[in-house]
Amino acid sequence: MSRRRAKASTPKTAARLPGDRASADAIARMIRVDQAGEYGAARIYDGQLAVLKDSTAASAVRHMAAQEKRHLERFDTLVAERRVRPTALSPLWHIAGYALGAATAMLSERAAMACTVAVEEVIDEHYRSQLEALGGTDADLAAIVADFRADELEHRDTALKHGAADTPGYPLLSAAIKTGSRLAIWLSTRI
Ligand SMILES: [Fe+2]
Ligand SMILES: [Fe+2]
Repeated sequence: MSRRRAKASTPKTAARLPGDRASADAIARMIRVDQAGEYGAARIYDGQLAVLKDSTAASAVRHMAAQEKRHLERFDTLVAERRVRPTALSPLWHIAGYALGAATAMLSERAAMACTVAVEEVIDEHYRSQLEALGGTDADLAAIVADFRADELEHRDTALKHGAADTPGYPLLSAAIKTGSRLAIWLSTRI
């Protein structure tokens, strides 16, 4: 009985309450993974544009790529300003992002768009969970994340308008890209 009581009173260190402040370490990890993610996104669009060139979807992709460039430049600046250690996995995202973009574009324009929908849905949930974790902490970072999250949702909608969901094998393709994107987030937060 006394043992049970002792167990029940053990504080749950991992639990967060509304109003808790995100630690400096947690914020550094957020900036690290966000820079990595924006870098990966920019590389995906580089790969897509290398294949799509002047096709009908290319101008929409070019617009999204320009926004990703803005996102990346902002996180590059934050990493420098706050002296955050960048991910050691940039060389991997350099290749994997480009390969994913090029491979999906080679399948079809719609598959390239399906790739964007899958990635943006994962990024949306990632940015939403960061905003929750930040709570009232670091209003500057929260404003950047909220701003970019709105762009990512716009990219998802653009890709859906271009027929992403009509790609043959869409559920399987989407699930595979989402799994890869979540793994990339997990790794870039830590390494
Ligand atoms: Fe982005
Ligand atoms: Fe995006």
